[in-house]
Amino acid sequence: MEFSILAMLVLLVVFVVSAVFLHLWRSPKAMEDIPGTLGWPIIGESFSFISDFSSPSGIYSFMKKRQERYGKVFKSFVLGRFTVFMTGREASKILLTGKDGMVSLNLFYTGQQVLGPTSLLQTTGEEHKRLRRLIAEPLSIDGLKKYFQFINALAIETLDQWEGRKVLVLEEASTFTLTVIGHMIMSLEPKGEEQEKFRSNFKIISSSFASLPFKLPGTAFHRGIQARDRMYSMLDNVISKRREGQGFQNDFLESLIIKHSKAADGEADKDKLTDKQMKDNVLTLLVAGHDTTTAALTWLMKFLGENPQVLQRLREEHMEIQAKGKGGANLSWSEVNNMPYTAKVISETLRRATILPWFSRKAAQDFEIDGYKIEKGWSVNLDVVSIHHDPEIFPQPEVFYPSRFDEPLKPFSFLGFGSGPRMCPGINLAKLEISIFIHHLACRYKWTPLERDDSVQPTLVRMPKNKYPVLVEPL
Ligand code: HEM
Repeated sequence: MEFSILAMLVLLVVFVVSAVFLHLWRSPKAMEDIPGTLGWPIIGESFSFISDFSSPSGIYSFMKKRQERYGKVFKSFVLGRFTVFMTGREASKILLTGKDGMVSLNLFYTGQQVLGPTSLLQTTGEEHKRLRRLIAEPLSIDGLKKYFQFINALAIETLDQWEGRKVLVLEEASTFTLTVIGHMIMSLEPKGEEQEKFRSNFKIISSSFASLPFKLPGTAFHRGIQARDRMYSMLDNVISKRREGQGFQNDFLESLIIKHSKAADGEADKDKLTDKQMKDNVLTLLVAGHDTTTAALTWLMKFLGENPQVLQRLREEHMEIQAKGKGGANLSWSEVNNMPYTAKVISETLRRATILPWFSRKAAQDFEIDGYKIEKGWSVNLDVVSIHHDPEIFPQPEVFYPSRFDEPLKPFSFLGFGSGPRMCPGINLAKLEISIFIHHLACRYKWTPLERDDSVQPTLVRMPKNKYPVLVEPL
């Protein structure tokens, strides 16, 4: 124990000294041409960034102040990184669809370590395309059909528990989305010991993402790596049982094992995945798909709660389905794919909440943007919040108004699921889960928020800090 505290102190000193050194001596010279300030040594502008991030308007206020002062492209030093922030449709076009290899994803060090080097999020070029092809099939509209009944039954069962209760929406949404993805990936039973282990490991992994990069016993990062290893041994067990022909299931893992995993000698299968690659990418899907869908579902309920007219119109759409005898347990695939107003409510939720407020990239080569030279190795963040609040595209951007999606929008003005080669591959699954859940919710319940607090959690995925506590009553 004493040793670990001492080691932590030594590491802290080393970290601080190297950060000072880096900040004072290695600040990219060419960044001098980019407007903006790098703030205080070591800390940069991290404090104002974090405090704005957790405020109701999120990093929008951080961005807006600086955009007014410096323009659409400005530099800063936040969270230990020299970063160029940029916004606007032009910048998104260049950054999101830029020639292959121009930029790569820019995960934080802890995220890189936990997900592993072969994760889709850490690959580029051909390797990235290959992994995208592998996950495209199970996440395609056709691939998702076989999970429809499971998701529908789970939504009904989850909501059965809500009647007359105080509900922390974020927590319940989290359990729902994690159970769905656990089932899709490895046919995990919704209840029981394995599910509990899966959930508790996942939660530790998830919270290690925004932690400090010290891998010492007791730190969130260290616990995250341990939980990742436990999760991997769970997967190893399932993989070896399946290879022995036990417990066949028609799920994502099975299709990876049968179609895409390397044989024992591995020689003839250069294009197939090693077990490590399979595990890194299963974990990637869990991480990328869970917090995002959970947050979307929670924000959606919150916005509906605050906008009774929108809720009324949405409810009419679902009551109509119900009246035709095609709702509730009879809800069908074709009904879910024909909920036009609900689809707009989902888009408006993703616009207003901007769950991933910026997309982070690393320049893999020199390029120019808005007349500024960006050098290889720099961090470049696309500020999506400002794009989603541009009054020229979205008049009165603070208003929750789903009908603004009646007309098609200009390209790169709505980035709820991103765009280009890294656009979200889970878009169909996310929409399916949310539409099914909202159908049952709108047909059965009304809800009243139990406190008014618009603060946001200071995590990578924007979520209401108070988890949106509500009292749920039957209609
Ligand atoms: C409402 C829920 C969701 C939202 C708002 C969302 C949003 C996004 C966005 C904006 C990106 C692009 C980020 C960037 O360009 O830097 C992305 C990427 C990604 N998403 Fe989603 N997502 C959601 C659900 C899911 C689900 C359910 C899955 C999978 C099961 C998933 C898997 C991924 C993966 C693997 C990537 C990385 C793609 C790549 O780098 O090629 N997402 N998501």
